[in-house]
Amino acid sequence: MARPAQVRLSAAALQHNLGRVRSYAPEAKVMAVIKANGYGHGLGWAARVLSQADAFGVASVEEGITLRRAGVTRPVCLLEGFFRNEELALLAAERLSTVVHHERQIRDLEDFSGSAPVDVWLKIDTGMHRIGFDPQRAASAASRLRACKSVGALGLMSHFANADNKFDSTTSFQISLFNDLAASIGGERSLANSAGIVAWPESRLEWVRPGIMLYGVSPMIGQGGGELGLEPVMTLGSEIIAISRRRKGEAIGYGGDWVCPEEMPVGVVAIGYGDGYPRHVPAGTPVLVNGRRVPLIGRVSMDMITVDLRDQPGAQIGDPAVLWGAGLPVEEIAARAGTIGYELLCQVTPRVPRVESEER
Ligand SMILES: Cc1ncc(COP(=O)(O)O)c(C=O)c1O
Repeated sequence: MARPAQVRLSAAALQHNLGRVRSYAPEAKVMAVIKANGYGHGLGWAARVLSQADAFGVASVEEGITLRRAGVTRPVCLLEGFFRNEELALLAAERLSTVVHHERQIRDLEDFSGSAPVDVWLKIDTGMHRIGFDPQRAASAASRLRACKSVGALGLMSHFANADNKFDSTTSFQISLFNDLAASIGGERSLANSAGIVAWPESRLEWVRPGIMLYGVSPMIGQGGGELGLEPVMTLGSEIIAISRRRKGEAIGYGGDWVCPEEMPVGVVAIGYGDGYPRHVPAGTPVLVNGRRVPLIGRVSMDMITVDLRDQPGAQIGDPAVLWGAGLPVEEIAARAGTIGYELLCQVTPRVPRVESEER
């Protein structure tokens, strides 16, 4: 019998969430961000299910080529740009567009003559202070790129630092700086990530770039995906593989730091940090057993966790357990682990089989 840990992927939920993006930003074209293996859901699967998106955002030329080999014909953009000038021939041949965020990349494009022009998004640093041209240098970077024979269409892009917080004034500042620059430089504009799409209507512009909300996870601090009408795409599930009755005072698992306060049933679920379940979640983190919450107890092991079954005395070996997804938002588990839903989705390990489903 196969190990019961598995990821269930809901195509219906992914399409529903793309619909939510369209209803937030009906005028905008959608560049679906599917980098990092489709936020852990599978690059090819995400592209196939999101075939109605207007373009795709990836992080490397390899991801772009994978999409082309899978038959994706829509625009594909390298959101981190190209890393070496040798990649430019591939970009031209495979019709991959690229972010340009650095002087060296402009020089590479000036020196390049390829089989076809490469479409470029000029990245401007409006306040994230990670990659992008300083606002004062944006106009001259744009005119050099426009003068390049190797460059096709030129768009303008920037990225939010704090849009997940509705009350942070940095975002309004970024929006007005970006729009002022775009008014003088021209070209299509792309600013909004998921948080921009949800909470900052004036950032939606010609192109939006949703990532996390497509996968059903809230981009906003203090709001769950369900409140935004999003549906979880990934459900990480497994089964109970053992149940034992423990006596008062018995310690559970490595380190023995969780001690039974009374005689009680303890269940073991086949999931652990070797599957990408976070090792640092504390006792009390919810697990859905038979659709009802029970608390995790003891430390997370590589392949197993232990749960308190006092509220489910009828639970049996083989009963289903959900670690996150349908019925248990990944945001909640991430908060317990001191991280964000993005990380948990991306870190499910390859040993966990993916089961694709048309249902929600
Ligand atoms: C440049 C860029 N645009 C858009 C996104 C999508 O962001 P989110 O997943 O928060 O919607 C990302 C993700 O990191 C990004 O790096």
